[in-house]
Amino acid sequence: MTRIAVCPGSFDPITYGHLDIIKRGAKVFDEVYVVVLNNSSKKSLFSIQERMDLIGEVTKQIPNVKVDSFQGLLVDYANSVQADAIIRGLRAVSDFEYEMQITSMNRVLNDKIETFFIMTNSQYSFLSSSIVKEVAQYNGNVSDLVPQEVEDALRNKFSL
Ligand code: PNS
Repeated sequence: MTRIAVCPGSFDPITYGHLDIIKRGAKVFDEVYVVVLNNSSKKSLFSIQERMDLIGEVTKQIPNVKVDSFQGLLVDYANSVQADAIIRGLRAVSDFEYEMQITSMNRVLNDKIETFFIMTNSQYSFLSSSIVKEVAQYNGNVSDLVPQEVEDALRNKFSL
């Protein structure tokens, strides 16, 4: 039986924290679909296509990772690729309430899809796309936080 998981997020842009979760998820599942979804409470910097392209670049060495995007509910996307698992990273206690809320909602929507949490490497526990954008905007050094391709894309976006 092929175990297929979906690793959803805004990925605006992908960071080393995301990449760590994707790599570890790809060791456990046969196939991992990294899917860019809309988070209605966030305003994005990169277009969906730009985010997908960056994810594709930085995950190209991982053979069982596929990159996709979807407009709609995560559980509907999971169904469409026959995934029965969702992977989410958990950084700190502060993530817990939000994650519990979306996991519970997803379970109400489809109780056949199980959510698995991977504890973020402590090295990245403070890291978020928002904090990266904040630092990059003012030309701060983000080379330890995101891959080179993402750093270049941020520099282009902010015309630095
Ligand atoms: O990286 P993020 O912003 O924490 O990811 C959140 C995301 C995109 C996974 C979540 O907002 C999502 O699943 N959006 C799609 C709509 C949906 O299915 N919502 C879940 C029910 S609350």
